[in-house]
Amino acid sequence: MKGFQLITFVLFFFTIAFLFCQESPVLYHSFKPGQIWYDNNGIIINAHGGGIFNHLDTYYWFGEHKIAGPAGNKAQVGVHCYSSKDLYNWKDEGIVLHVVENDSSHDIAKGCILERPKVIYNRKTKKFVMWFHLELLGRDYRAARSGVAVSDNVTGPYKFLKSLRPNKDQWPQNVLDIHKKPVKEDVKKTAYSGGSLPGHTDSLNILGRDYPGGQMARDMTLFVDDDEKAYHIFASEENSTLHIAELSDDYLSHSGKYIRVFVGRFMEAPAVFKRQGKYYFIGSGCTGWAPNAARSSVAPSIWGPWRELGNPCIGPDSSLTFFSQSTFVLPVIGKKETFIFMADRWNPQNPIDGRYIWLPMKFQADRIILEWFDEWDLTFLDSKKE
Ligand code: DGJ
Repeated sequence: MKGFQLITFVLFFFTIAFLFCQESPVLYHSFKPGQIWYDNNGIIINAHGGGIFNHLDTYYWFGEHKIAGPAGNKAQVGVHCYSSKDLYNWKDEGIVLHVVENDSSHDIAKGCILERPKVIYNRKTKKFVMWFHLELLGRDYRAARSGVAVSDNVTGPYKFLKSLRPNKDQWPQNVLDIHKKPVKEDVKKTAYSGGSLPGHTDSLNILGRDYPGGQMARDMTLFVDDDEKAYHIFASEENSTLHIAELSDDYLSHSGKYIRVFVGRFMEAPAVFKRQGKYYFIGSGCTGWAPNAARSSVAPSIWGPWRELGNPCIGPDSSLTFFSQSTFVLPVIGKKETFIFMADRWNPQNPIDGRYIWLPMKFQADRIILEWFDEWDLTFLDSKKE
């Protein structure tokens, strides 16, 4: 072989080898909870603490974009969106809400904490509305605010509108006399841990303390009912008590109507859904990034009364929610009354490597049952036990 032919052959060989070595996008036909999950570009899906919103027969998954290393626990990039027709295969739609660089005083300045984004659609205003838990830069988890962003398109870009503490100067429907009494000075001055309080939330009167400035709002979700009324459900009162708050007609603020539920139960990671006319709640206890046993509850109305049903998980590792924490419950389109439980397996040392735990939901009368599967697909929901 002459020199020229040899070079041509070698170039041809390496070109073919290179093309074959390129990773072609994986095509999925099932869910593998806890396994690495690639998007259409062969990049690991990056949408933690997320929620899924269905619009015109397409699912949109919104979640926290995390980066590698402990700095990834703070918002360095923003909210990431993916779309899918089948729930297995996800197309990258990019960052739809960016944190703000070069302005450390901005509410969503790079390095703030921006968690659990959820998107809903307002039919009257034709706007897509995003709410998320926001902690201002450099204030750890003390700000306990909610952020609101809006877009004309589901895949953004979303424009940041404001952040707030909900229901300033509003008492809940189920306020007690004790809340209207003066609040002790030491309660006013103390920043509590978020996992416990040195007394009962009502005797400390955290609700009364925050009445003039707005109620604390950390882990959160949104729920839209059949009548288009939307609700913001969040961990409040130093995480001790959940608030269910009605949103205004445009979904951009609170109507002022709200209730306190699970008082003193320290529940976070809320997910709410409706099945057969009843309202269901799944959440967790408060142990930071470490997993704990899930909680569940049912009510005849969003306003309660909420009856606790206990841990919905069964089998090995059920006391730790299979090493994960709830983030959303997804109703599956075209499969009546079928739901997927979505959770995060956090990795606070390397947040980008947090994994997604999606499991099929079964019911026994009112009780929710969550069981571990290494692999499952949507046909499982056709055979779900009632
Ligand atoms: C648990 C929450 O559910 C997460 O969203 C996050 O806020 C961590 N706590 C922080 O410790």
